[in-house]
Amino acid sequence: MYTIAHRGASGYAPENTFAAFDIAADMNTDLIELDVQLTKDGHIVVIHDDKVDRTTDGSGFVKDFTLKELQTLDAGSWFGPEFKGERIPLLEEVLKRYHPEIGLLIELKGHASQIGLEKAVGQLLGRFSFSIHHIVQSFSIKSIQTFHEMYPSVPTAIITRPSFGMFSQNQLNAYKSVANYVNIKYTRLNRYLISSARKNGLKVFAWTVRDPKTAAKLQDMVDGIVTDYPDFISKGG
Ligand code: G3P
Ligand code: CA
Repeated sequence: MYTIAHRGASGYAPENTFAAFDIAADMNTDLIELDVQLTKDGHIVVIHDDKVDRTTDGSGFVKDFTLKELQTLDAGSWFGPEFKGERIPLLEEVLKRYHPEIGLLIELKGHASQIGLEKAVGQLLGRFSFSIHHIVQSFSIKSIQTFHEMYPSVPTAIITRPSFGMFSQNQLNAYKSVANYVNIKYTRLNRYLISSARKNGLKVFAWTVRDPKTAAKLQDMVDGIVTDYPDFISKGG
C-alpha cells in the first residue's frame, strides 16, 4: 500500500513546493503527487491551478509566463510567513532531488491548453530512466492515451469521480487500454468499484484523504492513498 503525498505534505507546507516535498520525504512517503504544466517557453513546472493567483504573489495564467518570470514569484507566503521565498519548482529539479528513492505521481494538467505536455514529460522521465517509481496520471483519458501511446512502459493512472457507485464495462475497457491504475475520489469509493477495477487488472488509489479515521479504514482496501497528511498512514498496517 503506497502512501502518496498530495502536492507534497500539503497539510503542513505550501502545496507543490520543496518545503512540502521535503516534509513528505521525512514522513516515509512512497510517492509524491504533484501537478505539472508547461510555461510559455516550454519548461515543465509544478503548480496546480491554471492561474498563479491562489498560490503565489503573482497574477495570470501559468502558460503566459516564461520560466524566468515564474521563478520570481513567491509560492510560500500565502500558506505562512515562514515559507516566504519558496519558488515554483521545475519537474526536473524534483526528479533530481528525489529520484530514485521516492517515486512521483505526476498529474498532467490542462489537457486542452497544454499542447505537448505529454511528450515533454515522457522525454524528461526517459532521462531519469523509466522506473516503476514514477506514474503519470490525469483526469483526461485522452491525455493518458496520448502519453501511453508514446511511452507504453511508463505506468499510468486515470483519476475519476464515479457518479453512480460503479464503473460500466465500457469505462473499465477504456481505462485498462491505457492505464494501470484508477485513482478514485475516496468519497465515491465502495467495494464494488474496487473489485471491478481489480478484476480488470487495474490497481486502485484513493484521493484525497485528510483525516486519520478515513486513512485507517481505507488502508486495507486500496493500493495507495493520496493524502495531504502522509503521517496519517500507519506503515505497520
Ligand atoms: O491524485 C488526485 C488528485 O490530485 C486530483 O485532484 O485537484 O488535487 O489535482 P487535484
Ligand atoms: Ca493533483
